[in-house]
Amino acid sequence: MRGLEQPTLDGPGALRLVDGIGVPVAGAGEVLVRVGAAGVNFADVMQTRGTYDGGPQAPYLAGFEAAGEVVALGEGVNAVSVGDRVIGTGYGAFAEYMVMGADSVAAVPAGWSDEQALGLVLNWATALAALRPLGRLGLGETVLVHAAAGAVGQAAVRMAKYYGATVVGTASAEKHEVVRRLGADHVIDYRTADLTGEVLRLTGGRGVDVVLESVGGETFRQSVAVAKRVTGKVIVYGVAGGEASISNWELNFRHQVHVIGLHIGVLTQQAPEIFAELMDELNRLIALGVYPPGEPTVYDLADGPKALAELEARATVGKIALRP
Ligand SMILES: NC(=O)c1ccc[n+]([C@@H]2O[C@H](COP(=O)([O-])OP(=O)(O)OC[C@H]3O[C@@H](n4cnc5c(N)ncnc54)[C@H](OP(=O)(O)O)[C@@H]3O)[C@@H](O)[C@H]2O)c1
Repeated sequence: MRGLEQPTLDGPGALRLVDGIGVPVAGAGEVLVRVGAAGVNFADVMQTRGTYDGGPQAPYLAGFEAAGEVVALGEGVNAVSVGDRVIGTGYGAFAEYMVMGADSVAAVPAGWSDEQALGLVLNWATALAALRPLGRLGLGETVLVHAAAGAVGQAAVRMAKYYGATVVGTASAEKHEVVRRLGADHVIDYRTADLTGEVLRLTGGRGVDVVLESVGGETFRQSVAVAKRVTGKVIVYGVAGGEASISNWELNFRHQVHVIGLHIGVLTQQAPEIFAELMDELNRLIALGVYPPGEPTVYDLADGPKALAELEARATVGKIALRP
């Protein structure tokens, strides 16, 4: 089969298309999927530079997320059948076939294509986990969504509006119209604006109830500063702009807020009951039309290096997909 291999941890430019790779075999508890579409995630970019903790060692077959048809079952798999169309995660998604854990796959929603289903178990589940079980966002509250034009960000904006929140989004200036069209009440360019001042002005000095923090770096410190004192929550699920820290002294005397870490893979493993609730809620939102079929920008597998480079360079809007 064909696949995109990363021979060295030198970034997206090192990815190369390789032919003649052996089709993987589903082990116990796993399914083999013929990939219809693979999802490109920021984790793929980090992985190409070796900064994604726990990711594979180079050389490796790239890609973490795909949707497609189940073509073989490993030992002990009962809940999934050959011929089912599923969306899930694993290693080596940027290829014609990949293996996924049977427990962690979800059905492609009825009537949706593989491409339209991308994002369900990563982007949407992450955004929902941040907003609800962790952020406990309620009616009439205010949420700050960073990278609001991105794949996770767009999902978060749609759901936060549905839950009756006021949404402040941040994005590069040229992406603001997209974020407004999704229903965001305010959009800020966090690279040029006084983010802290602007958010405090919009909230009458009180700050926001929940921050969806995926940017890191200096933005992380601003996120902490604009969370409401005592009850405000900063949900940390990304570090695109680098590491940042906050001290116990600051949490005691400067920023009396809740800083909460989120990794959807760990949540799936360690709290499967919460993951099941997330999937139930996402299926409800799909039925309501709050969560519409995805419209990713699709590239051929051979253009994967370009797609990842654009994601790294902030040149993308919404979900990116690769077609094997
Ligand atoms: N913890 C988890 O389980 C989990 C799961 C899924 C995703 N994530 C994280 O969620 C974030 C969004 O992921 P995604 O796949 O949906 O990507 P994305 O939001 O579609 O793309 C990343 C966007 O982040 C913004 N950004 C801000 N600072 C950046 C920087 N220094 N370098 C690159 N981009 C920067 C850019 O938007 P602007 O141009 O508007 O600045 C960029 O377009 C990532 O941090 C990812 O690692 C975490």
